[in-house]
Amino acid sequence: MLTKLKIDHTAEIIPADSLIVEGDVITVIQRLPSNFVQCIVTSPPYWGLRDYGIEGQIGLENDLQHYINRLVCVFSEARRVLSNDGILWLNIGDGYTSGNRRYRAPDKKNPARAMAVRPDTPEGLKPKDLLGIPWRLALALQADGWYLRSDIIWHKPNAQPESVKDRPTRDHEYLFMLTKSEKYYYDRLAASDSNGRNKRTVWSINTRSFPDAHFATFPPQLVEPCILASTKPKDYVLDPFFGSGTVGIVCQEYNRKFIGIELNPEYVNIATNRLLEQTEQNIFYLKESDSDYENKYTTASPTN
Ligand SMILES: C[S@@+](CC[C@H](N)C(=O)[O-])C[C@H]1O[C@@H](n2cnc3c(N)ncnc32)[C@H](O)[C@@H]1O
Repeated sequence: MLTKLKIDHTAEIIPADSLIVEGDVITVIQRLPSNFVQCIVTSPPYWGLRDYGIEGQIGLENDLQHYINRLVCVFSEARRVLSNDGILWLNIGDGYTSGNRRYRAPDKKNPARAMAVRPDTPEGLKPKDLLGIPWRLALALQADGWYLRSDIIWHKPNAQPESVKDRPTRDHEYLFMLTKSEKYYYDRLAASDSNGRNKRTVWSINTRSFPDAHFATFPPQLVEPCILASTKPKDYVLDPFFGSGTVGIVCQEYNRKFIGIELNPEYVNIATNRLLEQTEQNIFYLKESDSDYENKYTTASPTN
C-alpha cells in the first residue's frame, strides 16, 4: 500500500516506515534527522554520461570539479543523517576525456537518454585521458572527513564490448566503503563468501538491465552484501539516488526499512510499482516541491 504524506514544506521529515521522497537530493537530505539511518547504498549519476531529462539533475555540470563538489556537499549532509557507527557504500563509474570532440556515439541500449554532447576536457587533462572520477571523488570525501575503508572492484563478466583497439576493454566499476567514525558496525559473517571466508575486494556480478528503466540499475547482488554487513533487521537504509528502487527491493527482501530520494517523477513511479509488486508492505511517499537548485548548491560550501 502506498500512503501519500503531506507535511509542512519546511518541516523535518521523520520517517515512520519505508519512505520514497520525490525531490532534489540535497533539499530532502537537509530535512532528514541526524544519526537516523544505519547505512547508505547508492550510485550517483556519472559525470557527462546520461541525461535523466529533468532540471536540477546531477551529472550535467560542464566542469568536472563542480560535479565532484556537488557530490561532496550531498554526502557531507548524508553523513549527518548516517548513524555514528554507520557505513556508506558508494558505486561510481569512470569515463574518458572527449579530446574536445563534441559528438558522443549513441547509447545503443538507451538511444533517447545518452547526452548529445560531451563536456569539455577538464583543465590539466589531455585528449584520451581516463578521468579517474572514482578516486577523485573518494579522496575528496576523505578530505571532507569520511574514513575511506575499502575500494571494491565490481567486475562485470557480461560487460558491453567497446570498439577501442588501443587499450583494454573496461569491465569494472568501483564501490567505495566509507565510514563516519573509526569504529563502526560491520557484520563480517553476514557478508562472508559462501565458504565462510572473509569477503574479498573483487566482486564478480553480472549487470542486469531492468526493462522499464532508461539507465543502469544496481544488480541486487551488489547491494545485498552491503546491507547485510552494515545493518540489522528493521534498520533504515538510505539511497539518495533511488532510480528504479533496487536498494528498496533488497531492503524489503531482508526486512530493512528504506528511504529513497529521487528527482524524476517517472522513476519514482517505476520504483514504487516495482516495490509494491514485491510485497504488500506499506510505503510512504512524499513530494518535496522546492526547486531552487542553483541557490542551494552555490550557498553550500564544498571543502575542496
Ligand atoms: C545511476 S541512477 C541510480 C540507479 C539506481 N541505483 C537503481 O538501481 O535504479 C541515478 C539517479 O539519480 C537521479 N538524480 C539525478 N540528479 C538528482 C538530484 N539532484 N536529486 C535526486 N536524484 C537525482 C537520476 O534521476 C537517476 O535516477
